[in-house]
Amino acid sequence: MDIILVDNYRELSENAAAIVADEVNRRQTPVLGLATGSTPEGMYAQLIKKFQKKKVDFSNSITFNLDEYAGLSPEHPQSYHYYMYRNFFDHINIKPRNINIPYCEDQDIDDACREYDRKIIEAGGIDLQILGIGINGHIGFNEPGEYLYTGTHLVDLTEETIDANSRFFNSREDVPQQAITMGVGSIMHAEKILVMACGKNKARAIQLMCCGKVTTKLPASLLQLHRSVTLLADREAASLL
Ligand code: PGA
Repeated sequence: MDIILVDNYRELSENAAAIVADEVNRRQTPVLGLATGSTPEGMYAQLIKKFQKKKVDFSNSITFNLDEYAGLSPEHPQSYHYYMYRNFFDHINIKPRNINIPYCEDQDIDDACREYDRKIIEAGGIDLQILGIGINGHIGFNEPGEYLYTGTHLVDLTEETIDANSRFFNSREDVPQQAITMGVGSIMHAEKILVMACGKNKARAIQLMCCGKVTTKLPASLLQLHRSVTLLADREAASLL
C-alpha cells in the first residue's frame, strides 16, 4: 500500500483531485468509482476547478457511486444523488447517461442490485475507486459483521454509522436505517483504489486497515489484499501508523 501524508484538508483534496484527473486524462473511457461523505467534498471542488481551467475533460467518463440510502428520493437534500449533482455532476461535462448511483424505486431490490453489478461489468470494471472510511472501518456501506457481500446489496446500517451520519440530518431519527451499497467484490476488482482519510476519529480505523488482521469485522482491512491501494491521509488520521 502506498501512503501519501498531507498536512491539511486542502492538500488532501488537491492530491486526490490530481490523482483522479490524471486517471481520467490518460484513459479513453475512464470508469470511476465515486464516494460521498464529508471527506471527498474538497476533492470534487478541486476537480471542478480543473475542469473549468480545461485541465480535465469528463465527456467520456463513466461513474459508479458506492452507495445510496434506502428510502430517500433522489431529490432529498441528504440523498447521495443530491450530493453528487450539487457537489460535482452539475458543474462538469459528464454525460447524464454515464452517471450511475444505486437506487431502487419501482424495481425489485435484488433486480436493481444485479443490474448495477451488470453495468459495472459491462463498463469493464472500475479503473479508479475512491473510498472514504467509516470510524468502524466500513467501506461504502459494507459494515463490519460476520460476513461480507461481493455484489451490490441492501444493508442494515450499524448504530455507529447512524450516529456518525446523524450530523447531516435534523435528528438521529431522520437517518435512514438501510442503504444500498456496492459490495466488496466490485471494490476489490477495481484496478486502483484511493482511500481518503482525515481527522483523528479515523486514526484507529486507518491503523487496523493498514496493519490489523484481515477480517470482515473491519471491512477496510480487505484492502491489504489489493495490489494497488493508495492511502491519502492527513497526519491525524495517520497518527497511529
Ligand atoms: P466521511 O464518511 O467522509 O463523512 O467521514 C466516510 C465514510 O463513512 O465512508
